[in-house]
Amino acid sequence: MARVYIVNDDKEIEVPDGSRLNILNGKCSILFACEEGVCGSCLVTVKEGIENLEPPSEQEKETLRNFGAGENQRLLCQAVIKGGRIVVEQ
Ligand code: FES
Repeated sequence: MARVYIVNDDKEIEVPDGSRLNILNGKCSILFACEEGVCGSCLVTVKEGIENLEPPSEQEKETLRNFGAGENQRLLCQAVIKGGRIVVEQ
């Protein structure tokens, strides 16, 4: 199992390795509106463990560019966790 620590909620959630992190919808305070990598509502800063995420898809990259996101920012609805632990904050 992989683990996602959400700073805003002071909460750690276990998810199966290889999960797309839209699986966290409804389990944390982060709002998932479109779940298609378009609206940016789930944009987070990955404070630790970004190497534990698969690289962003073309769709995610385009939206990140549109929002002027930094290198350590990802869309939680699109990001896929390989395993291990990440720490995210919104
Ligand atoms: S929920 Fe819209 S981009 Fe993630």
